[in-house]
Amino acid sequence: MFSNLRSLIFKLDPETAHGLAIKSLKFNFAPNVLNKDKNDPLFQTKLFDKNLENPIGIAAGFDKNAEVYNSLFKLGFGFVEVGTVTPFKQYGNPKPRVFRLVEDEALINRLGFNNLGAKNIFDRISSNKQIGLLGVNIGPNKDTNDRLNDYIECLKTFYKVADYITINISSPNTEDLRKFHNQKKLDELLNAINNEKNKLSSKIPIVVKVSPDINEKEITNISDVLLSNNIEAIIISNTSDSTRENLSDIQGHQKGGLSGKPIEEKSTDLINKFYRILGDKIKIIGVGGVDSGISAYKKFLAGASYVQLYTGMVYRGPNIVNLIKKELKELLIKDGVKNFSEIIGKKTSS
Ligand SMILES: Cc1cc2nc3c(=O)[nH]c(=O)nc-3n(C[C@H](O)[C@H](O)[C@H](O)COP(=O)(O)O)c2cc1C
Repeated sequence: MFSNLRSLIFKLDPETAHGLAIKSLKFNFAPNVLNKDKNDPLFQTKLFDKNLENPIGIAAGFDKNAEVYNSLFKLGFGFVEVGTVTPFKQYGNPKPRVFRLVEDEALINRLGFNNLGAKNIFDRISSNKQIGLLGVNIGPNKDTNDRLNDYIECLKTFYKVADYITINISSPNTEDLRKFHNQKKLDELLNAINNEKNKLSSKIPIVVKVSPDINEKEITNISDVLLSNNIEAIIISNTSDSTRENLSDIQGHQKGGLSGKPIEEKSTDLINKFYRILGDKIKIIGVGGVDSGISAYKKFLAGASYVQLYTGMVYRGPNIVNLIKKELKELLIKDGVKNFSEIIGKKTSS
């Protein structure tokens, strides 16, 4: 069904198409996707002590304003991350700002944290209880003069309604945001987050989302900071502002963050590098080019305990979780495992 619709959808500007997808999910016009194999023991897992039906989540950016998270659970996602949310509403960069690279099965976006602001989004979540595990991804406003304080403000707004909070330090579309990858700056930020959690007497799990464009030294330094600040999980990775060498599509020159197939291997390699340092101490959520059973399988082998996706949904449609589960099941049965978690980190070569 989606393959017939796809050529029509791809005639629309990507941001317009996304708006329609959100509307159809909101009003339940989504194609009638059956959540097959619900509760299959092969996929059952836990995240932050809560049971998940499967380890496949929808990544931040799809439901920026927390409009359709319950519909996304109904499509079969094991967990949902909304945002990025900033303290105040902001428009983001001028349009057009999302580009489809069909030949590369990729997207480039330079949205720049367009969202309705923390207060509006908090009200939405408060009045529409989530039916699954819901993360809120937070970041600073573009024109703030205290970025660290923006993260704190968002934490204060969401700690009671979210199941976890993601500290997004890795969008390439907010100038210099990635400076928080610096060891000292990250330590200062996570220290401040932990102090605020203490003040609030909150135990909300904190997750840090990193860039794929980092080097060996940064991997070691970031790992140290996450361990010393008792961070619960790391999301690897956000979009890439490099990795343009092998693109075929004419839109490949656009400025912004690249997602989808061309970043798959880069993110999987990075997951493996972090896994070798972090082991089981900090859980890894693997993101980047997941669109099939085999791509999810490779992320688990590399060391991810969960995966998320965005671009894959654009190319394979709203039934993607069921497609992935079906393909993954075949691979796992071939391996003779009883639960996918048995293959986590089993990749041996680099
Ligand atoms: C259009 C678009 C908007 C995004 N917005 C956000 C965002 O607001 N916050 C964030 O942390 N990541 C955002 N991302 C990054 C995704 O969450 C994900 O990390 C990245 O796209 C890699 O996964 P994928 O290859 O499955 O798309 C966005 C991605 C896309 C394509």
